[in-house]
Amino acid sequence: MSAAADNGWRLRLRALEVRYPAEQRWLRRPRRWARAVDGVSLEIPAGETLALVGESGCGKTTLGRAVLGLVAASAGEIWFRPPEAVRRQAPGLDALLAGRGRDGALDLAALPAAAWKPVRRALGMVFQDPSSSLNPRMRVWRVVAEPLLIHRAGSAAALRARADALLERVGIAPVLGERFPNEFSGGQRQRIGIARALALDPALVVCDEPVSALDVSVKAQILELLLDLQRERGLSYLFISHDLAVVRQIAQRTAVMYAGRLAEVGPTDALFAAPRHPYTRALLAAVPAVDGARAGRLLLRGEPPSPSAPPSGCRFHPRCPEAFARCAAEEPGWYRAGEGAAACFLAEPLS
Ligand SMILES: Nc1ncnc2c1ncn2[C@@H]1O[C@H](COP(=O)(O)OP(=O)(O)OP(=O)(O)O)[C@@H](O)[C@H]1O
Ligand code: SF4
Ligand SMILES: [Mg+2]
Repeated sequence: MSAAADNGWRLRLRALEVRYPAEQRWLRRPRRWARAVDGVSLEIPAGETLALVGESGCGKTTLGRAVLGLVAASAGEIWFRPPEAVRRQAPGLDALLAGRGRDGALDLAALPAAAWKPVRRALGMVFQDPSSSLNPRMRVWRVVAEPLLIHRAGSAAALRARADALLERVGIAPVLGERFPNEFSGGQRQRIGIARALALDPALVVCDEPVSALDVSVKAQILELLLDLQRERGLSYLFISHDLAVVRQIAQRTAVMYAGRLAEVGPTDALFAAPRHPYTRALLAAVPAVDGARAGRLLLRGEPPSPSAPPSGCRFHPRCPEAFARCAAEEPGWYRAGEGAAACFLAEPLS
């Protein structure tokens, strides 16, 4: 089945919240919580990429981990709609959808741990540092085949053949499958990580800073590979990055996150051409130009707030160069911002 025939959204978050104990007391309930993700709603269409950008600590990784079920949502919904092809391949997924699904989708935030197995194979993950996610004592073909083993997908010979095909697809000669991860360069290790992520034919892949640790030329090759794989397989990506140049190349839509919330969302080109939220503008102004000079003045002062004590009103107000009295008292809702939306009083009211 082609990806184009399977349109609509693949992932839909509704008011997602993830909290961590702000102060842990031995064997007691935490008194205070830090909401690392605090009411995020977004959507990723089938076969498209949504980039999630923002400063360190704003909650990007936490959001990605919640989608993958690696950290629990404390509130909100995570709707995942697997495509037909994935439903046919993942044993148990149809039964799960029949029992708990709505409109062909499952709310992963409400899924008990025991029910996750058929869903997990439909979700892939690619991390920043492949060295830490690839077992150094395992031959590379086994690293790639391991998800298949866990899900008992085929005989030993079939597993090897599948691992070889995946390695070849990502640009690693299958004969090198006998080697260990540390015998490869950073870029090659990331290729191996991508092959592993694709082993079970996922529909949605969370890529958390997948090219941040790589040199410029290697970075471009890995991005090209991710784009090719997306076109071939109709993959949806949640692409987490603070490299805006990379985001521009890979993502149809971009969501800007600040202190656990979204500040602005829109088509990448439009958002980069005419950012409306002062935080988006500051982020873009801080991007180095081609010659290494700053493209604009860095407008941001101070540090992002702690998620355990966010500021009143608009969370960005203590750092916002355009803040006015209302910003400290009232939290902005969503306003129209060109082709997207911004959570700032200065954008245009929604009709
Ligand atoms: N396991 C954890 N326990 C407690 N607090 C955590 C944990 N993981 C993250 N946090 C806190 O949650 C907030 C969001 O962290 P997160 O790692 O999601 O940010 P990020 O946007 O991915 O940052 P970076 O760009 O540095 O990767 C931070 O304040 C962080 O300190
Ligand atoms: S609502 Fe106010 S403080 Fe927040 S971004 Fe807009 S102008 Fe700045
Ligand atoms: Mg992170």
